[in-house]
Amino acid sequence: DTQSSAGDKAVIVMGTNAEFPPFEYREGDNVEGFDVEIAKKVAEKLGVELQIEDMLFDGLIPALEAGKIDFIAAGMSVTEERKQNVDFSNGYYEASQVIIVTKDNDTIKGPEDLKNKKIGVQLGTTGDAEAQNIEGAEVVQFNAGFAAIMDLQNGKVDAVVLDSEPAKNFAAQNDQIKILDVELTQEEYAIAVKKGNTELVDAINSVLEEMKNSGEYDELVKKYFTA
Ligand code: ARG
Repeated sequence: DTQSSAGDKAVIVMGTNAEFPPFEYREGDNVEGFDVEIAKKVAEKLGVELQIEDMLFDGLIPALEAGKIDFIAAGMSVTEERKQNVDFSNGYYEASQVIIVTKDNDTIKGPEDLKNKKIGVQLGTTGDAEAQNIEGAEVVQFNAGFAAIMDLQNGKVDAVVLDSEPAKNFAAQNDQIKILDVELTQEEYAIAVKKGNTELVDAINSVLEEMKNSGEYDELVKKYFTA
């Protein structure tokens, strides 16, 4: 009986892909970030211990369906396609896909200039899907947004399509890249649970609401986001 070993709390498992600052990133051996803070509140509310499983982004939904993780907190955007396989909490953050190029690039100024170009994306993301729709584009899929940025810098891709906040985060630490002032999509991040897990989704929704009402949510925004 695993539940009754002395002093051990029951565990809830968060699945994520810690390649997505400021929502989740590695700090030494730990995974930290905005999503982790929310997940900690959820665990606290349920009186259980939080365990974090860091995996490839495109492995998250399969892991949830297989019962290897209890929820996904990974800056995951709500999409109609994903809704067929998981249930989402209420949204907790509005985001968009942006285009990143090197600072010296003066030919790619907007989405129309991405035609027939080599575009770096993170595998299985909404940015990946968006790039696949661009006429003639060659989409290069990376396991991490950071790796796509490295190849941009090395001239191996012409542009990177990435979520707005991680893009700002990477740009703040790299003076050779710039973010174009145009939003390719409007998306909303939410936490995903296994289809039919209404108990957990209800708990997550009440935590989100409590955090917004108490001002904790705004404090997290201040703590984690690049102005
Ligand atoms: N918002 C995008 C999506 O849902 C990208 C999320 C990537 N998240 C991550 N933790 N790597 O597809």
